[in-house]
Amino acid sequence: MPLEPAHRRFLPAGSALRCAGGFLLLCLLAALGAAEGAEREAAERLSPYFGTKCRYETLHPHLLREPLALGPPQSGFPLPPASCTPLQLNAVIRHGTRFPTGGQIKKLAHLHRLLGQRNGSCAASEALAGWSLWYREDMDGQLAERGRHDMSTLARRLAARFPGLLAPRRRFAFVSSHKARCLNSSDAFRDGLRQALGGQQPPELGNDPTMLGDIKINDTLMRFFDLCEKFVRDVDNNDEAMHEVDAFKVGPEMKKVVERIANNLCLPVDQLNADLVQVAFFTCSFELAIKNISSPWCSIFSEEDALVLEYLNDLKQYWKRAYGYEINSRASCILFQDIFRNLDQAVLESKNSKPISSPVILQFGHAETLQPLLALMGYFKDKEPLKANNYHRHMNRKFRSGRIVPYASNLVFVLYHCDQVQSPKEEYKVQLLLNEKLLEFPWSKKTVISYANLKNRYKDVLQKCHFAEVCNIPQNTTNTVVL
Ligand SMILES: *[C@@H]1O[C@H](CO)[C@@H](O)[C@H](O)[C@H]1NC(C)=O
Ligand SMILES: *[C@@H]1O[C@H](CO)[C@@H](O)[C@H](O)[C@H]1NC(C)=O
Ligand SMILES: *[C@@H]1O[C@H](CO)[C@@H](O)[C@H](O)[C@H]1NC(C)=O
Ligand SMILES: *[C@@H]1O[C@H](CO)[C@@H](O)[C@H](O)[C@H]1NC(C)=O
Ligand SMILES: *[C@@H]1O[C@H](CO)[C@@H](O)[C@H](O)[C@H]1NC(C)=O
Repeated sequence: MPLEPAHRRFLPAGSALRCAGGFLLLCLLAALGAAEGAEREAAERLSPYFGTKCRYETLHPHLLREPLALGPPQSGFPLPPASCTPLQLNAVIRHGTRFPTGGQIKKLAHLHRLLGQRNGSCAASEALAGWSLWYREDMDGQLAERGRHDMSTLARRLAARFPGLLAPRRRFAFVSSHKARCLNSSDAFRDGLRQALGGQQPPELGNDPTMLGDIKINDTLMRFFDLCEKFVRDVDNNDEAMHEVDAFKVGPEMKKVVERIANNLCLPVDQLNADLVQVAFFTCSFELAIKNISSPWCSIFSEEDALVLEYLNDLKQYWKRAYGYEINSRASCILFQDIFRNLDQAVLESKNSKPISSPVILQFGHAETLQPLLALMGYFKDKEPLKANNYHRHMNRKFRSGRIVPYASNLVFVLYHCDQVQSPKEEYKVQLLLNEKLLEFPWSKKTVISYANLKNRYKDVLQKCHFAEVCNIPQNTTNTVVL
């Protein structure tokens, strides 16, 4: 990936004074170096608050240095190989780092033009007016080159974690949303798998497409939210559904942020609003994720601003993709049930001493795929709903999208077959990994459960949630208004 030097426009305060004594050139160079460091810090200081636009490495900083390193050992993972063998791995994966959407690029272009009308001289505003807008509208949400790296390195780490499953001559099932960023992600993941397995692979199987399988597009599973009519009508296309988000945008916390940013940019405050400030913040996040640079857009934000903007992003996720409305998560039960259908089949095949027909299932979707699924399962639920007026009570909330669904986020179900002598009633066990970390079940601190118990815990969702019932709008009631 081509890396650009960090921008060098800002000198740390005081550097000119310290330079007065001579050695001007050396001194200037040192000051520039320090400026670069300070800016680097700006992006890194803000990076935990980028929400759904966090890079995966924010969760696992060691991956910045060693993208293939597995990190510190995790107690209880994997289950001891002497008694338990992984039978099936079923992963739901968000696409890797992507470009901004067309809408975001348009808003950014608008903000960039506004800087031309700034009044007074602000270092930040001048630097930003000189910044060149390099995003084109046709980049619209496409996977970035960095996103390919996210996927291929994830594949190689998963292969290293599950060498028995992600092994040569295995059949891999690939499922993807129809979006280019997901298809490209599947493809990059496959490249990573080829590299991981290539070394052990007899050369004649090196690129054997049957081993890696076709990528099947299935929006029923990966974009259930688009196909759920009732969700589309009542949440996605219903302006009122986001009233908490809208209230927060004009609430006291956000107002202060807009004022501070207007001040930093020497712009009249009535020219800015929450959306434009958010797009500036996203631009800082995109430049770090896509180009690995600290953009001058980062330096206009303080950590306090970032916390407020993180909450704005989380509020939207909460009301549109999680606990805000029941239908948000219920719409994903079709995917949840499909995962269990595959687990059931593997258990059945194992009981009949047959080979497992789908030992590895890799499904590529969106944050909007993963977040509802995790809510359906009961993860990251705070006692109090996230609202416009309780920002301060949610400082330590569980629901932080940056830690849950950054780029390349992944939820992995691991089914094990265990030695019956040691646990006669628990022949099949399950562990969950979220973003490669062992996940406790929502009802306990445990990180392993028998398959039978797991099904029992979720029997309501497995038996009583029917996509058609949850999502279809009865034809003959759409025109009848009951007053
Ligand atoms: C710019 O600032 C000056 C002095 O504060 C003020 O008189 C003028 O009206 C401002 N112009 C705009 C376009 O805001
Ligand atoms: C995504 O796929 C398209 C079509 O195959 C290809 O032209 C493009 O280069 C890919 N982009 C990335 C980043 O993989
Ligand atoms: C998508 O997956 C569902 C559930 O497994 C299945 O019923 C459906 O036929 C699949 N659709 C396509 C287009 O493969
Ligand atoms: C990203 O930038 C940092 C700091 O400039 C550098 O140390 C690191 O090697 C870069 N990472 C990659 C993957 O290029
Ligand atoms: C159509 O509406 C009637 C009452 O207005 C209702 O009894 C019936 O179940 C509805 N049919 C369907 C298919 O929803």
